[in-house]
Amino acid sequence: MEQEFIVEIEELSNLGAGIAKHEGKVIFVENTCPGDRVKIKITKQNKTYSFGQLVEIINPSTHRVNPFCPMQKVCGACQIQFIDYKEQLKIKQQIVKDYSRNLNLEVRETVPSPEIKGYRHKIQYPVSETKNSKRIIAGYYKPKSHEIVNIKYCPIQPEICDEIIDYIRENAPKYNISGYREKSHSGILKHIVIRSSAETGNNLLVMVINDNKISKQIKQFGEDIYNRFDKISGVCVNFNNKKTNLILSNKTQILCGEDYIEEKLCGITFKIGANTFFQVNPKSAENIFQYVKQYIKENFESPTILDAYAGIAAFGIVMSNISQKVVSVEENQESISLAKEVLELNKIHNVDLYAMDTAKYLETTEQKFDVTILDPPRKGCTQESLDGVLKVTKSKIIYVSCNPQTLARDLEYLISKGGKVNFIQPFDMFCHTYHVESVAVIDLE
Ligand SMILES: C[S@@+](CC[C@H](N)C(=O)[O-])C[C@H]1O[C@@H](n2cnc3c(N)ncnc32)[C@H](O)[C@@H]1O
Repeated sequence: MEQEFIVEIEELSNLGAGIAKHEGKVIFVENTCPGDRVKIKITKQNKTYSFGQLVEIINPSTHRVNPFCPMQKVCGACQIQFIDYKEQLKIKQQIVKDYSRNLNLEVRETVPSPEIKGYRHKIQYPVSETKNSKRIIAGYYKPKSHEIVNIKYCPIQPEICDEIIDYIRENAPKYNISGYREKSHSGILKHIVIRSSAETGNNLLVMVINDNKISKQIKQFGEDIYNRFDKISGVCVNFNNKKTNLILSNKTQILCGEDYIEEKLCGITFKIGANTFFQVNPKSAENIFQYVKQYIKENFESPTILDAYAGIAAFGIVMSNISQKVVSVEENQESISLAKEVLELNKIHNVDLYAMDTAKYLETTEQKFDVTILDPPRKGCTQESLDGVLKVTKSKIIYVSCNPQTLARDLEYLISKGGKVNFIQPFDMFCHTYHVESVAVIDLE
């Protein structure tokens, strides 16, 4: 195990580790790049593959660059920031290809993100405190751990977020607000969540607390933060006193200002709340929405559209002016309420909203649609939902996915039921990570 040897990194795995081969065995080595010649040592052995640790780079790959973030090596957020951006895009295309290998599909080149710094507009930092000095720490977890890297500056998010988080870090103890201690499930401030608008620069701050009520201190602190920053348009508290990996519970209370931010997408102003889904990279989302809209425009005249797993009905609302009728289905009531406000403000009358489980809707509806836009969470769709979608869709399913693994699984199922998939188009929504967003069109006719 302790023996060191030299290998060439051939490609990147679907989880962002370099892949080398040694004596017929695959070895995964983190923090390496295709083209690297590296000295490694084995840390874990399985029958057919092993894990190695990078000891020394003998010859760096031509795709290696200096990461622009000084914390890249310790923080778990941007796993592949040390690889040049063009190569990152190729790697993501390859990841989608690998997962869908059995399906024999064309996987197109990844569409780049319009911004590769400051692109992330949803920030979720776990919070804790140091053992002795009780200083507040907040940042991302180190890879594969729950150890927080105290991040003072993160170049992939808007600068104002660093300022807000630093203010909280410095001032929470003055209000007697402690950081959360996971082991003992004690302390107050568990997470800082910020929803930041690319359009207005405004921010909604959510303090997630290990409590079920707002103390005087939290109230005062929230009000002072709100008054301190012009660009904070609202401060909320989310109550999450359960020992869970879920960041937000479904109970949020507004402390000051507005409980949403406004964000523009394809010319329409949407409202995003603390608990509502919205793509983390609004500029890249714009590319995807325009792409889907263009595709529908080219293939249909005034179609009926089902927008399944709709969030704040962004797809449904953006498609409303090229459609006869849209139905958006989403289980989160807060998202549906915000979508309703947007429909009223924009006097859009051809979008129906349903706050319910997609599978339930599909089971009970009698309606049929020309197109279904299917945008499920990472776990993908259940077979029950896919059967329901096949039942209600006349012509095409447009599957938007943030997980190429579950996308490939669901495409395989749809193909087995007679669907024809022409291609997959990857988009870079999560720059410098191994995550990739994809759009696939499935023909049913
Ligand atoms: C990946 S997001 C897509 C949201 C939206 N299409 C967009 O682009 O903004 C998935 C959404 O599905 C919702 N969701 C998850 N499971 C669901 C279910 N069983 N039925 C309805 N909605 C669900 C989530 O709340 C989330 O808003």
